[in-house]
Amino acid sequence: MLICPVCSEPLTRSDKQLFCENKHSFDQAKQGYFNLLLNQAKKSKQPGDNNEMVQARTRFLNAGHYQSISDAINQLAIDLLWQQENVGILDVGCGEGYYTQRLHEALSDHQIQHTLFGLDISRDAVKAACKRSKDIQWLVANGKKTPFEPNNMKLITNVFNRIMPDSLKELCHPEGHVVIASAGAFHLQQLKEAIYDEPKFVEFDAIEVMKNDFKHVQRQQLDFIIKLKPSSTQDLLYMTPHAWRSSPETQKQLLSQQQLELRVQINLDCFSPLQGDSHSAP
Ligand SMILES: C[S@@+](CC[C@H](N)C(=O)[O-])C[C@H]1O[C@@H](n2cnc3c(N)ncnc32)[C@H](O)[C@@H]1O
Ligand SMILES: [Zn+2]
Repeated sequence: MLICPVCSEPLTRSDKQLFCENKHSFDQAKQGYFNLLLNQAKKSKQPGDNNEMVQARTRFLNAGHYQSISDAINQLAIDLLWQQENVGILDVGCGEGYYTQRLHEALSDHQIQHTLFGLDISRDAVKAACKRSKDIQWLVANGKKTPFEPNNMKLITNVFNRIMPDSLKELCHPEGHVVIASAGAFHLQQLKEAIYDEPKFVEFDAIEVMKNDFKHVQRQQLDFIIKLKPSSTQDLLYMTPHAWRSSPETQKQLLSQQQLELRVQINLDCFSPLQGDSHSAP
């Protein structure tokens, strides 16, 4: 299923190495992941989330604030993959692996046999993901150009990660699905109100981004309140780009609240590939 990022020939595994017939080889890191990110594909030396962000995300997610999002993704995956055998699944932009690991558990509990890949461009994130499970194949790679044979994944999850529709189209099995979790207009409403003078509540439109290559199958909207202690507020501030734009005073004010109530609003969209070459349509 994996292909060489240099020459696109299939990769074969021998013990702790992946190699192709053109003698390109990739060693397994001691944590268990493979790094298939070519140097020229990196825009920076350390692409993706840095270690501080990764650790904050791990603490925040482990506290269970977003567990219902993970549960909803898992239920959708079970419904989609029920009674299928040996399915290939990819979590693209998996971060430190919270959703990936819980997906693996849920599918295993339902006897859905699968090979699950967790892919992220951040080495720090993938290193942290390795601690969550040894049964998932963790990869450092670019979601824009992934090291997989085309049209093989029965399910691709894209959770709070930038959507790369061309790559998703290439990866997705003709009868497969892509599940995208993205922020709704009022996601973290009170945080935006505290940070911005004129907060904008605009919905990110996953359907529009996907429409050339995918049919929209269904949307589930999750809308709930979380109550954060200052330590979790701090972690959330590390994780979210809004915080980078906030003043130290605003951050201090947010952190002084013993219990910060925040609205979480998430769209969970499911897509299936359009058949045929939609790009050739006039
Ligand atoms: C907001 S985080 C979400 C992580 C995880 N899905 C979660 O919700 O906890 C976005 C992730 O996408 C990764 N990322 C950014 N650009 C990427 C790319 N081109 N390919 C793969 N991963 C990428 C970042 O390193 C980061 O871990
Ligand atoms: Zn090769």
